[in-house]
Amino acid sequence: MSAKLIDGKAISAQIKDELKEKTAALKEKGITVTLAVILVGEDPASQVYVRNKKKACEYIGYNSLSYELPADTSEDKLLELVQELNDRSDVDGILVQMPLPKHIDEKKVINAIDPSKDVDGFHPVNVGALVIGEEGFVSCTPAGVIQLLKRGVPDFDISGKECVIIGRSNIVGKPMSLLMLRENATVTVAHSRTKDLEAVCKRADIIIAAVGKAKVITADHVKEGAVVIDVGINRNVDGKLCGDVDFEAVSQIASAITPVPGGVGPMTIAMLMNNCYEAALRHHR
Ligand code: GUN
Repeated sequence: MSAKLIDGKAISAQIKDELKEKTAALKEKGITVTLAVILVGEDPASQVYVRNKKKACEYIGYNSLSYELPADTSEDKLLELVQELNDRSDVDGILVQMPLPKHIDEKKVINAIDPSKDVDGFHPVNVGALVIGEEGFVSCTPAGVIQLLKRGVPDFDISGKECVIIGRSNIVGKPMSLLMLRENATVTVAHSRTKDLEAVCKRADIIIAAVGKAKVITADHVKEGAVVIDVGINRNVDGKLCGDVDFEAVSQIASAITPVPGGVGPMTIAMLMNNCYEAALRHHR
């Protein structure tokens, strides 16, 4: 392996430690950051995510409120709870864990969250702010990728570089493209209909893979010395976690690469915690 390994676990820990310090300083001014987390149903993966979010709050010194509702909770009941949390001046951030049960319209729920408390950055007001370069909450995973690049490869200047993002989801691909544009990269978004993905990827100084399929990015897609960020979390046939990138082969060619697990994954919670801190600052200014 010749590539430098970008250690998401260490960078995430560093960000959480910075927030812990800043949170202690806020407490001295009488401000406690509060995140409300809502989980509907008993999806085991969601339960793990929610538990990790609560643990991160505890570590940093935030107050976390937890609402665990049965799977048959009505949409109206959930919307009522969101409204109640919107109205509470002691709540800074609201997170509704996705996916929601099928009888609940996720879009309706996201739209019901006060944009100033939308620490996921999913509300159209926050997405719109990102598009026109105004202040707002940015979706946590793409925000985490920017931190991985800036802190994990500090000598690498994003400005002017060719960046190819593979995937166009609302949560990762689209906001990722806007953030890279904000960093002055030349951005290409590739997707399932892209012709000759290999040729498109081969141009890239930075590849960000957010496809959701194991090992679709191979050595043939990567230019010598490129920086490769793997957003994918897949399970291979043995049930082992693996990314969208063929790590063994690509790490021979890339100059820096994120592992899976231990790359992008830990960054999502760190950036959520950062959004909660920013929300509290805004609510108290
Ligand atoms: N489910 C999977 N990822 C996320 C996330 O980042 N936020 C929320 N609310 N739900 C999720």
